[in-house]
Amino acid sequence: MLTTTDGDIARAAKLLSEGGLVAFPTETVYGLGANAQNEQAVEKIFAAKGRPVDNPFIVHIASYEILPRLVRDIPKAAQTLMNLFWPGPLTIVLKKQDSIPNNVTAGLDSVGIRMPKNDAALRLLKKCAIPIAAPSANTSGRPSPTLASHVLHDLNGKINAVVDGGACDVGLESTVVDLTGDLPVLLRPGGITVEQLTDAIGDVRQRFEYVPGIAPRSPGVKYKHYAPNSPTVIVKGQFQHYVCQHAERYKKVGVITYETADFPENCIVKHLGKSPVEYAANLFSHLRSLDNENVDVIFAQDVQDGGIGDAIRNRLYKAAGNNIVKG
Ligand code: TXA
Ligand code: MG
Repeated sequence: MLTTTDGDIARAAKLLSEGGLVAFPTETVYGLGANAQNEQAVEKIFAAKGRPVDNPFIVHIASYEILPRLVRDIPKAAQTLMNLFWPGPLTIVLKKQDSIPNNVTAGLDSVGIRMPKNDAALRLLKKCAIPIAAPSANTSGRPSPTLASHVLHDLNGKINAVVDGGACDVGLESTVVDLTGDLPVLLRPGGITVEQLTDAIGDVRQRFEYVPGIAPRSPGVKYKHYAPNSPTVIVKGQFQHYVCQHAERYKKVGVITYETADFPENCIVKHLGKSPVEYAANLFSHLRSLDNENVDVIFAQDVQDGGIGDAIRNRLYKAAGNNIVKG
């Protein structure tokens, strides 16, 4: 475990430039970094995470100077989004330069790039001065880590170091937008909302749900994701009523809610805060701690769509494998 002191950031940067794997905080979730220009280093990420090889990595940068080495051109819409939202929770998919190893992009001719808004991440990226490929630093399929302890829980012994920068602000992974075609396509909702994107660059097609039989534009969307070990149920409508009616069937029940109501005694209640932004920041952490409590089932309260609600719903529905009931 490393801290965010200059000395430790320098150690982490050295490990990365020598081909090691280093987990580091970002404003969204912790990333598992490797030198994006080193094919062997990137290869180690797959083994550590149990990651499918057809799922491309996002490349993280701290300065615009690196961009021409990574992408073939920067369309006007991309420039607009970078000016508005970088550093920040937005990944932009652009046509890639041939020099990027194939295992970074799963053989695609595009690459997702982002400049994270986190002081430790930016200092680390600047110190090593290389683009860093980094998926979320969890075992594939598990909820993404929003604390250094989550990273160690999944990856201890499989990586060279983790930089502990405390809790991540946003708590959900970045928005992914593809600008390689005629129209911008939203591949994953996140901290930068579709409303913000539309205001900046006009119409954005939304294509983030996996449609069976149609090759997904963003390979990551087809896998089971964000899933706790306990079966998870999304409850729409009368949340407290539903939980009170169904809790007695189980020994131990996990409850994720933004209501401060009373629940039956066998419920372990995780409150999500008052706003959707707090809901997002706490969600993954709550899913993980309910897993540690070995609950038999998790009932999670649904959220409104729109704004950050789109991203929360996307993660929540995947965690529940689309198991949705009406309360
Ligand atoms: O917030 C985040 O984005 C975090 C932090 C660490 O930056 N990273 C992250 O990476 O969530 P990962 O690997 O867990 O998710 C990356 C997503 C996947 O769904 C992947 O398919 C998509 O981005 N993606 C990456 N490159 C792509 C490309 N060239 N074309 C389409 N989708 C791409
Ligand atoms: Mg991930």
